[in-house]
Amino acid sequence: MAMTESEKQDKRLAFLGQLAGGLAHEIKNPLSTIGLNLQLLQEDWANPQTERERRTKRKLEILAKEVKRLQTILEDFLRFAGGHKLDKKPVQIVELIDEVLEFVTPQLVEGKVDSRTMYEEGVPVLPLDRNAMKQVFLNLFLNAIQAMPVGGELMVRCGRAGDEVVVEVTDTGEGMPPEVLERIWVPYYSRRRSGTGMGLPTVRRLVEEHDGTISVWSEKGKGTRFTLRFPVPGEE
Ligand SMILES: Nc1ncnc2c1ncn2[C@@H]1O[C@H](COP(=O)(O)OP(=O)(O)OP(=O)(O)O)[C@@H](O)[C@H]1O
Ligand SMILES: [Mg+2]
Repeated sequence: MAMTESEKQDKRLAFLGQLAGGLAHEIKNPLSTIGLNLQLLQEDWANPQTERERRTKRKLEILAKEVKRLQTILEDFLRFAGGHKLDKKPVQIVELIDEVLEFVTPQLVEGKVDSRTMYEEGVPVLPLDRNAMKQVFLNLFLNAIQAMPVGGELMVRCGRAGDEVVVEVTDTGEGMPPEVLERIWVPYYSRRRSGTGMGLPTVRRLVEEHDGTISVWSEKGKGTRFTLRFPVPGEE
């Protein structure tokens, strides 16, 4: 059977993704060699005696910082490009959410963010890849905390609606105007100085690989809500 235009497009994209993933892997090793040698150089120049040596030390610091940044970009890209197959097993999603909330406790405390959960009784078990799903909620929670620089509330609700499990992640943070909202799923779009902008694109890809959907509501100055929906198996 002949391929449709959109199937051809999908194939081209998948191929480009593979190439880019390969390229990222090829860059990773030499970059880590550069990073290691920089670290050794920094140890050599740890105690500068002259102004010239102090300048050298500062330049080494800049180099090390940029190498770190490149490494973060590569790691985020490889995580996004994924390629590894998901290992789906029956998971109680509210337990997984609680685990991730506990994991971000230090950030919640530091950011003066109160977390609240509202779980319906008897949320059905879903076929999920634990690591992928942890990644999803980690990204959403960190974004929420980052959006509340003077503190606020992070609320997670989970329940069943028809043949779906619905999870809502709501924050009382700065919210987003429409022009930001329409770009948040684009890879590398970030408004944070140290952000890679791969958080939400990765979240979306992982949710969709679980046959789920994700949508967002946000209002500037009020807050943001991400809504995730996963089909309950055997009932669609
Ligand atoms: N809960 C939120 N409230 C307000 N703005 C948000 C929220 N979540 C995401 N954003 C906006 O969307 C942008 C993209 O988010 P995304 O998670 O993809 O990247 P990032 O957080 O900037 O960087 P990274 O997650 O890669 O470290 C953020 O820079 C921020 O401006
Ligand atoms: Mg993020």
